[in-house]
Amino acid sequence: IPVQIFDSTEDGSLFVAREIASLIKEKQAKNLPCVLGLATGATPIRLYAHLVNLHKTEGLSFKNVITFNLDEYYPIERDAFQSYWSYMHRHLFDHVDIPKENIHLPNGELSKEEARKACETYEQLIENAGGIDLQILGIGSNGHIGFNEPGSSIYSKTRLVSLDNTTRINNAYEFQNISEVPRMAITMGISTILKAKKIILMAWGSKASIVAKSVEGQVTEQIPASILQQHNNCTFVLDHNAAAELT
Ligand code: F6R
Repeated sequence: IPVQIFDSTEDGSLFVAREIASLIKEKQAKNLPCVLGLATGATPIRLYAHLVNLHKTEGLSFKNVITFNLDEYYPIERDAFQSYWSYMHRHLFDHVDIPKENIHLPNGELSKEEARKACETYEQLIENAGGIDLQILGIGSNGHIGFNEPGSSIYSKTRLVSLDNTTRINNAYEFQNISEVPRMAITMGISTILKAKKIILMAWGSKASIVAKSVEGQVTEQIPASILQQHNNCTFVLDHNAAAELT
């Protein structure tokens, strides 16, 4: 997997923002939609800030952008502060000109039965949009991508999953206490992610060990991000700390 290493989170985030901006403009020039797969969490916060800034200062338009988020907690109310729906509106959608109907996130409010149906619909919607042009990923300290925890099948599609305890602990800072972190999530599958035409995984700070295993270790379902070695257009964008254990 090719890696690009930056001096700071800020530089890495700006680089990815510019990659996204040039893809959006390339598609605009051809009158085509630009289909983005998006992630939440701490990692892409500065990326979204830079995209908002490019919209405000350089007039970058999101009119032709269609988005599919990787995942959402389950169950969760859409309007809860911790929902990924809220996160995405707070950090990006409320500040750019993306049409509301172009925004897609898994719905954490449905019954389990309805959610299972909605997962199939989600896959269909991605396909109908022409597939994901560029998928942005973060990485969990256990190697998860989306909420595909270790052991997830390479053939997995969008589905309801249980969160690992380590994931719940890592994400507890967003909640009052650990017992309030949802035990499940709806996530795109590994196969859904691998179908993206291009993938950029971003990692900063303390992720050095799992980044090295994912980039240089053997491909294994025990480290979901290692499966990205089998994708033909995937780059890791890292800061110095996250790159520290690469040989
Ligand atoms: C978020 C997601 C997760 C995160 C990962 C890293 O939509 O899919 O895989 O990317 O848990 O989280 P942070 O960025 O908070 O370290």
